[in-house]
Amino acid sequence: MAIFIDSGNIEEIKTYHSMGIIRGVTTNPTILLQDGIKGGMAEIKRCSVDLAKLIHPYPLSVEVTTNDPRKMLEEALEMASWADNINVKLTIHGPDGELDNLTVIHELETKHNVRVNVTAMMSAQQCFVAALAGATYVSLFCGRVNNMGYNSMEELSKLRNLIDSFDLKAQIIAASTREILNIVEWLDAGAHIVTVLPKFMNGMIVHPYTKETVQQFLDDAAKGEGAK
Ligand code: G3P
Repeated sequence: MAIFIDSGNIEEIKTYHSMGIIRGVTTNPTILLQDGIKGGMAEIKRCSVDLAKLIHPYPLSVEVTTNDPRKMLEEALEMASWADNINVKLTIHGPDGELDNLTVIHELETKHNVRVNVTAMMSAQQCFVAALAGATYVSLFCGRVNNMGYNSMEELSKLRNLIDSFDLKAQIIAASTREILNIVEWLDAGAHIVTVLPKFMNGMIVHPYTKETVQQFLDDAAKGEGAK
């Protein structure tokens, strides 16, 4: 089980990486845009190479930027060549339900030895199909599943049973965190990995009662010094 960080911000990633608590990084075009990466493929490459180097040998997910299957394959091969710890993110299908993606995913995993993170999935069955196609990671967007009124924990538990029963190599990434509680509850429900937004990392660590207790220790230490 592991925690990844869902961010393209190198300073935030450095903070948690230097604590030794994250085992990988996931990005997508929305995250990169939010983190100010706006210079097209050249900028994605620069940022990805820096991040991959920082966290090596832990994995970094980088997502393709096209819906054209031929270009998708080319981009994925190019991205995977930037560093040996980069895996490539492809969505399970296109915006109109196009099915070519799974063929590209299967080809990348079986013919080109590229590790694929299949993303933007909202159900156990989508993730199961992606795992059958050979994906290394299957990303279930648990927060969005909950937003739609379904129970992401049930999906995670069903999916973990299928992956274990079929002896598939895929690791489940529970993504789309909405609150701190998600991290432990999704791992508990069957996720191998939860990818966490930086704002929730701090919330996992800092507790108001711990602050008060630490202050008490510091105050008493100072009083003890004064009593010498
Ligand atoms: O890792 C995928 C995740 O970033 C999607 O999250 O918040 O856009 O549903 P969200």
